[in-house]
Amino acid sequence: MSDPVKVMKQEVGKAAAQRVESGMIVGLGTGSTTAYAIEFIGDRLKKGEISNIVGVPTSFQAEVLAKQYGIPLTTLDAIDHIDVAIDGADEVDPQKNLIKGGGAAHTREKVVDYLAKTFIVVVDEGKLVDKLGSTFKVPVEVIPMAISPVMRALEALGGQPELRMGIKKAGPVVTDQGNLVVDVKFNDIPNPVELEQKINNIPGVLENGVFVNCVNTVLVGEIKDGQPSVR
Ligand code: A5P
Repeated sequence: MSDPVKVMKQEVGKAAAQRVESGMIVGLGTGSTTAYAIEFIGDRLKKGEISNIVGVPTSFQAEVLAKQYGIPLTTLDAIDHIDVAIDGADEVDPQKNLIKGGGAAHTREKVVDYLAKTFIVVVDEGKLVDKLGSTFKVPVEVIPMAISPVMRALEALGGQPELRMGIKKAGPVVTDQGNLVVDVKFNDIPNPVELEQKINNIPGVLENGVFVNCVNTVLVGEIKDGQPSVR
């Protein structure tokens, strides 16, 4: 089998795309797993299995992919609801709380995902954790002029903040909104609801990557007896 993680992402992306019905307004998430869902929604449109779909992209990446796969787009100003949002995650705990923002898109993702009547999370089994924060830092989008006081305030909350730097780009990562991202390691997150609120109460923070009480369904791609499946 080719890369098993890639296979799991493809399978779970396909399974989510199957849940889209004609006439729906669909929140299009960001990341490598959602990219497969967008591709498969486009396939289903092309084959005529579904029609009259419009997408609300959560990032520039989602917008580009939707255009590539022929999904018409709209904006939140032109609609009054979202039927279903499909999005990936970096961690999922047993209560369906998430950490998102590995792709620096969590602010727009939170707007779209929280608005959706049904929010479907698509992950491979490697994203499941017993406790939030055990494998991933919490991404925080910060307006640039506030970066120093926000870093100090995050330390005061018990975190170890680190400015996210580009991998193939010199200097820090800049979000679709022109802001910076701080990744914060917390040794323990006993109460995700409280942490989400406390971080967002720091002046200069736009949004953080803790998502709570918003997920309806988690689709998990896994490999069982050498075969990919979705549960
Ligand atoms: C984007 O900012 C993130 O929230 C992604 O949804 C998350 O990082 C999952 O991405 P992958 O599907 O690429 O792992």
